Amino acid sequence: MNDFLSISAPAKLNLFLHVVGQRPDGYHLLQSVFQLIDLQDTVLLKTRSDSTIQRINPINGIDPEADLVIRAARLLQETTGTRLGAEIDLIKKIPMGAGLGGGSSDAASTLLGLNQLWQTHLNLDELSQIGLKLGADVPFFIHGETAFVEGVGELISPIQLPQNNYLLIYPGVGIPTPEIFKDPSLTRNHARITIADLASHLFDGNSFINDLEIIAVQKHLEVKLAIDWLATYIPGATPRMSGSGSTVFTQIPKNTQVNDLLSKIPKNWTYFVVKSLERHPSYNLIPSN
Ligand code: C5P
Repeated sequence: MNDFLSISAPAKLNLFLHVVGQRPDGYHLLQSVFQLIDLQDTVLLKTRSDSTIQRINPINGIDPEADLVIRAARLLQETTGTRLGAEIDLIKKIPMGAGLGGGSSDAASTLLGLNQLWQTHLNLDELSQIGLKLGADVPFFIHGETAFVEGVGELISPIQLPQNNYLLIYPGVGIPTPEIFKDPSLTRNHARITIADLASHLFDGNSFINDLEIIAVQKHLEVKLAIDWLATYIPGATPRMSGSGSTVFTQIPKNTQVNDLLSKIPKNWTYFVVKSLERHPSYNLIPSN
């Protein structure tokens, strides 16, 4: 694979997620902090001189037409009119249906990488517009900085946060995003905050919540059990779910005996110990406007 361009595709955590409205087309208006973390997939790309776009190791059961990296490559090809194609491989580490943005990040890294390999020279806004057609989280990953995110995901204000370590628990259930957003009892009118409110309230543990979590714990007992586990085993923890779930997480306090803690996690759950990232690991590929 030496002749492939290798691009990181980091996951994100939603430190909180408020649903503040809904557009006429059904999409929800959000306010959230998207924190990049060092749990990451790797996208491997190589140019083809014909226009074929293909995955080298397609995932069993996923229709190539629904595969976000293939769709990202096709959309960039159509938008720019390039005659080039690509071979694409993906090393997956981020669980799917986990609320960690893995599929969106893979798509964003595919756009960033092919924009370089194909020399298509789209700027940040142009790439973000293509990204938004693929998923609401994709523009955030294209911008590649931890950020306060609004709109459906297209209004991005980078912010700087202290370095933190997080414990993530993926409680073994994948949750389809639409299942949570379409629930009639979802709060859709959370009071708006301003970016200035983040400084005083982001890490106080109580002020900012994830509105999607309230629905997810009603539908999936494992999510509730994982939140309760973190609250019980990490004194003072204020666990949250990320995105539409199912991953839950909390900061790891400074003096925690981490190995001792990890040995107590129920065996049917997957866990990750991660560090926050200020910037995308492949930030050099992100164009300016
Ligand atoms: O954009 P993405 O593919 O992540 O969204 C999946 C589904 O989640 C959408 O089709 C929509 O039903 C819902 N969604 C929403 N509002 C958002 C993001 C997603 O209603 N801001």
